[in-house]
Amino acid sequence: MERAIKKADVLIEALPYIKSYSGKIFVIKYGGSALINPEIKKGVLQDIVFMSYVGIRPVIIHGGGPFINEEFRRLGKKVEFSEGLRVTTKDDITVVDRVLNQVNEGIVNDIKKLGGRALSMNTVKKNVMKARPHKESSALGFVGEIEEVKSEVIRNAVRPRAIPVISPVSIGEDGELYNINADDASSEIAMALKAVKLVLLTDVKGIMRHKGDESTLISTLAMKDADTLITRKVIQSGMIPKVKACMNALRSGVSKTHIIDGRIPHSLLLEIFTDKGIGTEIVKDK
Ligand SMILES: Nc1ncnc2c1ncn2[C@@H]1O[C@H](COP(=O)(O)OP(=O)(O)OP(=O)(O)O)[C@@H](O)[C@H]1O
Ligand SMILES: [Mg+2]
Repeated sequence: MERAIKKADVLIEALPYIKSYSGKIFVIKYGGSALINPEIKKGVLQDIVFMSYVGIRPVIIHGGGPFINEEFRRLGKKVEFSEGLRVTTKDDITVVDRVLNQVNEGIVNDIKKLGGRALSMNTVKKNVMKARPHKESSALGFVGEIEEVKSEVIRNAVRPRAIPVISPVSIGEDGELYNINADDASSEIAMALKAVKLVLLTDVKGIMRHKGDESTLISTLAMKDADTLITRKVIQSGMIPKVKACMNALRSGVSKTHIIDGRIPHSLLLEIFTDKGIGTEIVKDK
C-alpha cells in the first residue's frame, strides 16, 4: 500500500511538467554509442513511448557510428573523422546508408514492441531532409548539410501520436546520397519543427572539463564559454557537433538544449520530469 502511494506521489509530481509539455515537440538525438546495449536501448525507447502517451510529441533522430565502424572494419574500409565528421567516399555512403537504414528499422520495431507507434523516415521509406554538399566537402566527400527539412511530413506523423524515427542520410538535389552528422541534423529538425527542447543522448555523462573524469562534469554551459572550450580543445571529436548543434538550435528559438547520458536508466524522464535535470545544459548568453 505504502509503495503504491509513493508511486502515485511520483506521478503527481510529474503533473506540472506533463501539463506544460503536452502537445509540444521534443527532438531527441539518440547517439549510436548509447544504442549498442539492448537493455539500455529498451530503457531509452520505453521512456520515449511513455512521453508520447502523456502527450509529448517526441521526434527521434538517430546516429549509428559504432555500427558503421564495425561494418567498415568488416569490409576492410578506412574509418576517418575530421572534427567529429565522418569522411565518406562515394562507395562508403552506400554502406553508411545501408547500416543506418537497419538501425532505423530496428528502432521502429522496438518501439512497436513496446506498444508505441513509430514511423521510419529514411532514404528508402520517407526522406524528410534535402541536402547540399558540406562546405568542406572537398575534404569530407559525401557529407552534406541540410538544405531543407520537410517539416509538414514530420508534423503530419506526429499529430496522430506516431513517433517519427529519422535516419541522418539525405538525398541531394543532384540525386546523390549525403551523410549528415546526426547532431547537425537534430538541430535543423528541431528548428524546423519549432521544438521546445533538443536532447542529445550519448554515452557520457555530459560535457566534462577533463574528458573521462566525471567529477569535472559541466552542468550548465553558456554559449560563449562553449566556443572557448572548443578552441582550447577541451571539447573534442564527437562532442564538437553536439555543442554546435545546441548553439545553433538556441540561436533559432529552441528554448532548451541538453546533452545527457543515455546509459543512465530513465535519463530522459529524469531530464524532463524533474527540476534538477542531469547532464549538461547549454544556455544562451545573458
Ligand atoms: N569535453 C568532453 N566531454 C565529454 N565527452 C567528450 C568531450 N570531448 C570529446 N568527447 C567525446 O565525445 C563522445 C561522444 O560523441 P560520439 O560521436 O562518440 O557519440 P554519439 O554522437 O552519441 O554517437 P553517434 O556519433 O553514433 O551518433 C564521447 O564518448 C567522448 O569521447
Ligand atoms: Mg557523434
